[in-house]
Amino acid sequence: MPQLDHSATVARIVTEHPVAARVFQKHGIDYCCHGNVTVPEACLEGRLDPEALFAELQAALAADDARPEENPRALSTAALIARIIDRHHGYLRQALPYIAPIMAKVAKVHGPRNANLQHLHDAFRDLASSLGPHLDEEEEVLFPALMARQPDARLVEREVERMYEDHLAVGDLLARIRAFTGGFTTPEWGCSTYRVLMGELDALEADILRHVHLENHVLAPRFGALATRAA
Ligand SMILES: [Fe+2]
Ligand SMILES: [Fe+2]
Repeated sequence: MPQLDHSATVARIVTEHPVAARVFQKHGIDYCCHGNVTVPEACLEGRLDPEALFAELQAALAADDARPEENPRALSTAALIARIIDRHHGYLRQALPYIAPIMAKVAKVHGPRNANLQHLHDAFRDLASSLGPHLDEEEEVLFPALMARQPDARLVEREVERMYEDHLAVGDLLARIRAFTGGFTTPEWGCSTYRVLMGELDALEADILRHVHLENHVLAPRFGALATRAA
């Protein structure tokens, strides 16, 4: 059975054991943009018990042992980029326009009862409006620069730096969304649309975290010392 390195950062744990991503997300640990901390350090911030979290991670690894999740580190750069575009950019381009009217409806109907819903709506709009140009920039500039036969070091450096900055802003918005929803919970009085919204936001967070992890910790480190900064 695979063993966890207890001194590894949470980003490194997910890079080596992709199944760990689910456990970290469940506990609100951002393993992407703030993944450069150990499990005990992450637990301090979230007031979690590190021994219990290690046990949960080990159980997830054991359950994954029979049919392990494919590790994206094994993919070529071209295949990794194709996967990011097909799976994660494709998902966002469908999910964001799908969630937007549900979000607007819940904020309008239930806003008077829960003031956080207006803040949630604002954070969701900020997230959606920043992700659109971010995906385009990656597809039109960054990814072609990385795939070039002879990558232009200056262009790669600039675009990777820009990518990290965008991801930090996205990570902050995700943290706000999680906080405004109390960890994606539906109150007792919440209607079925409210419940659907919480499920969609939970899935959105999970997908973005995996997506950003692939870009920050699997793709970018392939392109030199600069790109390893956030790994
Ligand atoms: Fe992306
Ligand atoms: Fe990105």
